[in-house]
Amino acid sequence: MLKRQLGACVTFFPQPTTLIATQNGEGEVNLMMASWVGIVSKTPPTIAVSLNRDRHTYANIKANGTFSVNVVPAKMAQAADACGLASGKKVDKQKLTGLEVSPGTLQGVSLVDESPLNVECRYLSEVELGDYRLVLGEIVEIHACEEAFNEQDEADVKVFDPLVYLGGMREYWSLGKKEADAYRAGLVFLDKD
Ligand SMILES: Cc1cc2nc3c(=O)[nH]c(=O)nc-3n(C[C@H](O)[C@H](O)[C@H](O)COP(=O)(O)O)c2cc1C
Repeated sequence: MLKRQLGACVTFFPQPTTLIATQNGEGEVNLMMASWVGIVSKTPPTIAVSLNRDRHTYANIKANGTFSVNVVPAKMAQAADACGLASGKKVDKQKLTGLEVSPGTLQGVSLVDESPLNVECRYLSEVELGDYRLVLGEIVEIHACEEAFNEQDEADVKVFDPLVYLGGMREYWSLGKKEADAYRAGLVFLDKD
């Protein structure tokens, strides 16, 4: 495959799309689009979110100590994008988008109702990366859309329908079709002898 060098930049894909929900000291909710998000440990369950230190979201997390990470479904692309264009310093993004929230199990955590997967987190620590702060959150609870599950408790990915972000190209896509089963597809190479 012939390659072109893009230099030191942040072009990378796919990236998840999430809404980080936080509250300020008065309990006012703010929603922020974030794609620099990922699970970074299973034991203990931990998520990492990279936030510019100027984000209202970062100030809220530092003040409150809790937050939620809400997976964005494809049909929410426009509302979620708006939460990446305006800052909660100036705009009430719930009013702007009409997105609703409900309380989580942790004090000060709001969960986005329209999101099919909500991750409740307690602030653990952070790593300074220039203008950014890689915030580590202990995963305390995960709420998954009930209608995704069948009677055998198997989840249908199509119900979650996560919106995917292509960083560098600045485009949102939805998932295509399933290609293979993870932790199994590669067995064809290992079981050869
Ligand atoms: C697709 C997309 C992904 C983004 N991902 C991040 C991110 O991971 N970290 C970040 O600090 N800002 C990210 N942003 C920018 C923030 O969402 C944006 O600056 C927002 O207005 C900040 O809101 P706040 O000040 O209310 O926290 C992203 C924006 C878009 C459109």
